[in-house]
Amino acid sequence: MIFSPIKILKSARDGKYAVGQFNVSNLEQLRAVCETAAALKSPVIIGTSEGERKFIGLKQIVATVKAWQEETGLPIILNADHSRSFETAKAAFDAGYSGIHFDGSELPYEENLKITKQVVEYVKSKNSEAVVEGELGRVLGGSQIHREAIELKESDFTDPDLAEEFVKESGIDSLAISYGNVHGIFGKGLEGNEKLDMERLKAIRKKVEAFLILHGGSGINADEIKESIKNGIVKVNINTELRVAYVNTLREVLNKSDETTPYKIWPPAIEAVKRVVEEKIKLFGSSNKI
Ligand code: G3H
Ligand code: ZN
Repeated sequence: MIFSPIKILKSARDGKYAVGQFNVSNLEQLRAVCETAAALKSPVIIGTSEGERKFIGLKQIVATVKAWQEETGLPIILNADHSRSFETAKAAFDAGYSGIHFDGSELPYEENLKITKQVVEYVKSKNSEAVVEGELGRVLGGSQIHREAIELKESDFTDPDLAEEFVKESGIDSLAISYGNVHGIFGKGLEGNEKLDMERLKAIRKKVEAFLILHGGSGINADEIKESIKNGIVKVNINTELRVAYVNTLREVLNKSDETTPYKIWPPAIEAVKRVVEEKIKLFGSSNKI
């Protein structure tokens, strides 16, 4: 790693912009993200969930991101998104990831704290510049289109006092928080289901120095994203909107022709993903920051 992931997030915090984490499942999506970030001279984070990195292959994604880094000169953080155990977090770090997200938000508090701490100790003993992200509060839903409303309870939201304690005790660099955000987007008739609680974000910001992370960035309107960045969010995670752009375009292309050459079929899907990434990078304000 020839750049510091910690410094990338510090610069975002100081400059009041956010760095996008774009999740990918394959080489085509990765190409779309890297080419767009390079064109906009933006730092960028590639995210892979446990499922995504299992599909691509740990060694394979690490090597390919390194190749994009060398070719574009971009600082690209590769983040092990939503690692659910110490073992999967460790495996990603050992393979060469420069960001590790341990998500113990479904666990009892003490258990979440214990494993998060263990991840921090392991990662920091080997590389103090790698970023470790913890999670407190529940961000519901998966990265898909929801056909039914998702009810958030007060108890799902991140508690500011507990967040302060969690950050202090665990030693994490970043904290993923819940203040009305859910993973995925809402289908017809359910638009507007996702509403962020800015007062909650401000209360967390007051108590927590660590980088604050917004998960479930798809489907949140531009004004709320901007307001969140103003109030301390330094990384926004996007997955569903990329998946939808990619799959819908691919479906359309395949339905329209009987082309069999993959490299002739895929370009419109890559372009569709690029348009989403471009819109988000501009919204987050990270263009021309490298
Ligand atoms: O960790 C990944 C993100 O939180 C993605 O959320 O699918 O709503 O964009 P999203
Ligand atoms: Zn997430």
